[in-house]
Amino acid sequence: MTEFDSLRQTRQDYDDVAQAYNDLVRHDDSSTHTLSTAMITAFASLVHAGGSGSEVLDAGCGPGQWTELLVELGVRTYGMDLSPVMVTIASSHRPDLRYEVGSMLDLDVPDQSIAGILAHFSLIHLPPHLLPTVLAKFARAVEINGPLLIGVQIADGAGDEGWVRYDHKASPAYRWTLDAFAAHLREHGFAELARLRIEPLSPSKPPAGYLLARRTSGGP
Ligand SMILES: C[S@@+](CC[C@H](N)C(=O)[O-])C[C@H]1O[C@@H](n2cnc3c(N)ncnc32)[C@H](O)[C@@H]1O
Repeated sequence: MTEFDSLRQTRQDYDDVAQAYNDLVRHDDSSTHTLSTAMITAFASLVHAGGSGSEVLDAGCGPGQWTELLVELGVRTYGMDLSPVMVTIASSHRPDLRYEVGSMLDLDVPDQSIAGILAHFSLIHLPPHLLPTVLAKFARAVEINGPLLIGVQIADGAGDEGWVRYDHKASPAYRWTLDAFAAHLREHGFAELARLRIEPLSPSKPPAGYLLARRTSGGP
């Protein structure tokens, strides 16, 4: 499967499930949701501490519920997503916010112009060989010391590569070990600040993991 095929499939899959996904996430009152909110709130505090006032990017924002939280927390945020239907839904909730259709692989903004990036379970569909391309773009885009928060599903016991492919209910995806993902972040100039593992609510589901990092002055 080429890069183009893979992105086209992800876009189509999320266009198909966008309304159902929106209904699900907007009624989520689970403990997982509470912990996600805590991580995103910590991310927002780091953005405020940076003090530049530049915008934050919610990369792969889906229906925009976390974009909205960041805005409620006083962080200027715009959302971007591969799926036009997701972007339409996000805009319908908050027509006053900026949402764009686009791929993280094509992120094209001035160097160090973004105060921080949230990639909340949006890198999971990226074929692992494309992760360095996206992280290089993130590293160029984010200002020095700016935070990056990523959420992934954890692959306990993955082999040396640190990831496994699986059938996510929306679209094919990849689980990661947090160690392997953190190594990619380091290689691209992001220093880990904290990590969180959230145990699944059902034994058939994988744990969720968060890595909170900041852009260092070293690296690419
Ligand atoms: C599991 S959903 C997460 C949505 C939202 N961040 C959330 O936490 O509910 C994954 C989202 O990532 C988007 N996505 C996947 N690959 C992407 C890419 N290369 N560029 C931009 N968005 C992408 C999908 O369209 C989908 O909306």
